[in-house]
Amino acid sequence: MDSPFGLLAELTYRCPLACAYCSNPVNLAGYSGELTTDEWRRVLAEARDLGVLQCHLSGGEPLLRRDLVDLVAHAHGLGLYTNLVTSAFGLSRPRAEQLRAAGLDHVQISVQADEPAVSDRIAGTPSFRRKIEAMGVVKELGWPLTVNVVLHRHNIDRVAGVLGLAEEVGADRVELANTQYYGWAWRNRDALLPSRAQLAAAEVVVRAARERLRDRMDVIYVLPDYYSRYPKPCMGGWASRQLTVTPNGDVLPCPAAQSLPLPRASVREESLERIWAGSPVMSAFRGTDWMPEPCRSCARRELDFGGCRCQAFLLTGDAARTDPVCHLSPDHHLVARAVEAANAASPGGDRSLIPRPHRVRRVER
Ligand code: SF4
Ligand code: FES
Repeated sequence: MDSPFGLLAELTYRCPLACAYCSNPVNLAGYSGELTTDEWRRVLAEARDLGVLQCHLSGGEPLLRRDLVDLVAHAHGLGLYTNLVTSAFGLSRPRAEQLRAAGLDHVQISVQADEPAVSDRIAGTPSFRRKIEAMGVVKELGWPLTVNVVLHRHNIDRVAGVLGLAEEVGADRVELANTQYYGWAWRNRDALLPSRAQLAAAEVVVRAARERLRDRMDVIYVLPDYYSRYPKPCMGGWASRQLTVTPNGDVLPCPAAQSLPLPRASVREESLERIWAGSPVMSAFRGTDWMPEPCRSCARRELDFGGCRCQAFLLTGDAARTDPVCHLSPDHHLVARAVEAANAASPGGDRSLIPRPHRVRRVER
């Protein structure tokens, strides 16, 4: 068993935005009892002892945690590389300066489109202007900045403008990630899935931008796996290199696994080390012994690990099946049918999006 390399610390599921592609759980009833500052401090220390090197502070909106600066300072003191994954809603200059002094290493800010009205509509909250201001502060304070844009049917045609925006704000890296269908995004899948023509057009733009911006900005483009022949090697394999701790202390091998019918493991009851090494949730799909055919005898089983367990569960009701994205899967028709429907629908999308409800009390300024 390898040590985990990365910890996704989901500090809260509260969020001032209401994106319809959010991958947070649809039912947030069990997550109001967030870990305390001391509990997170212990989790970070245990993660470091386990071998974790990178800590992604995420949510929801991690800036909603009043103790964020304290947690960053603690992670930094432990020698962890810290990355803040944020909407930037609430990243005022004083707060940013405190985070800088606490040792935060990297900031990733999401934006929903290149144009204020479109971005705010997709975010369900007027937020574009504040995001751009925050990006300016991040650059002024000397942080490396990643701009993250989740792509889907309603914004993928604007990818050239999005790249222009990233260039304008001086991003070091832009991550154009086609939507992964979990949580609210799963609920909205049919309204979010782009068409083949939209993807083909976006790919031309991305390829040209990569060439043009080669020396200035990394352009990462995450393909939509529904259009791929083989599935993604999700998380680099189940409980192999990454772990997630949810706001209430549940420990998962990936952020979407709370939807699977697996026994819970919580940092409130056990140490991270015991959970990583021996809990049923971690061992359920570790390695290759659990694999059914066609994965079991497939030459790619150590390359893609049979794809994504959460996607297999959402599509088939059985997390132990081959990811239906794979063209060899006996369930591939489930993906093919969704793709067919996306290509039959009118280009702009004729289904409305169900926004994630707002869950926020107050954003620190
Ligand atoms: Fe990957 Fe399984 Fe498909 Fe082979 S059959 S390519 S291991 S998902
Ligand atoms: Fe859970 Fe892929 S998101 S295994």
